Amino acid sequence: MSKLFSELKLKDVSLRNRIVVSPMCQYSAEEGVPNEWHLVHLGARAIGGASLVIAEATGVTPEGRITPGCTGLWNDEQAAAWEPIVKFVKRHGAAAGIQIGHAGRKASANRPWEGDDHIPASDPRAWEPLGPSAVAFGGNLPRVPHDMSKDEIAQLQRDFVAAAKRALGAGFEWLVLHFAHGYLAQSFFSPIANKRTDEYGGSFENRARLLLETLSAVRAVWPEKYPLTIRLGVSDFNPEGQPMEESIELVKQLKAKGLDLIDVSLGFNSPDVSGVPWGPAFMAPFAQRIKEEAAIPTAVGWLITQPQQAEDIVAKGQADLVMLAHQELDDPHFPYHAAKALGVAQPHQVLPSQYAHWLKGR
Ligand SMILES: Cc1cc2nc3c(=O)[nH]c(=O)nc-3n(C[C@H](O)[C@H](O)[C@H](O)COP(=O)(O)O)c2cc1C
Repeated sequence: MSKLFSELKLKDVSLRNRIVVSPMCQYSAEEGVPNEWHLVHLGARAIGGASLVIAEATGVTPEGRITPGCTGLWNDEQAAAWEPIVKFVKRHGAAAGIQIGHAGRKASANRPWEGDDHIPASDPRAWEPLGPSAVAFGGNLPRVPHDMSKDEIAQLQRDFVAAAKRALGAGFEWLVLHFAHGYLAQSFFSPIANKRTDEYGGSFENRARLLLETLSAVRAVWPEKYPLTIRLGVSDFNPEGQPMEESIELVKQLKAKGLDLIDVSLGFNSPDVSGVPWGPAFMAPFAQRIKEEAAIPTAVGWLITQPQQAEDIVAKGQADLVMLAHQELDDPHFPYHAAKALGVAQPHQVLPSQYAHWLKGR
């Protein structure tokens, strides 16, 4: 019996298997409004058999977008545009999730295929990045962010809450707070980016404050019946970043405030990624450690490309869900192909009838 193809129920959401489409920016929105590209991109992956399709990092404010092409949820027009996309995904058996966040000091960048660097401040498309401190990320993102005032921090939390409400209104049933990859929330937690001397910087307790407050505020409006999750960079793989023990403690405290699952990822608070132990499924042991020590369901991604590899991660209990990005771009029908490779009975049933009928017995 495949564990990868076993159901998972988290709160009131039932997932038909453990394969999740990892959030992937498409850099294809205008004014933050998703369009037919997002419908086809996310819809195709729901058709392909994933159990949960998570829409890309979506800005809680215009300044919270990574690039001018990123999606948003700071107004009702954007929420309305997400609605048909959510309906389509759900109609084809996948749960619909969205990741909301603020890009912080990495915001105001060009699309990856147009440079992946900060848009020059003089360019009319650029805006001022925000951060915990006036410390630039560096490398191709050299702009020094504006260090946020406490009023701005309070407003940021209200922006997360408003975006969560709009996500709910659009029909999403799974929410991911983006606390990873060196974006704003993550950068508050990391001593590499956070040099503040007030109650939002310095000690573990202070660096964790923004993340804990934001999750609590969102939990107050996000229904108990739906999973509230985070993607957290649990390590910067850099001696100056936060130690893994702090991440585990943070997860425990977030869990006490209503966190339902953590998607275990990397910090990326510095362009120096020389310490990252790249290799197939290299984050799985980190997910396992968090699962064991914080006693919370986990998801994990990074270099998971093979059916057996995904099966083993779930079967060994390293994670409850596997997150696929590149592999899902390469093969939107990965779940169907994985079901065949793993010898799942009736693998065609992973697909909707329009396809399943013709692929029965193949
Ligand atoms: C095109 C693309 C866009 C991405 N956008 C996001 C994003 O919006 N939010 C996020 O947390 N990670 C994002 N990522 C990272 C992926 O979700 C994933 O964690 C990473 O690619 C590692 O998984 P993989 O080895 O299966 O690709 C993106 C990756 C790709 C390839």
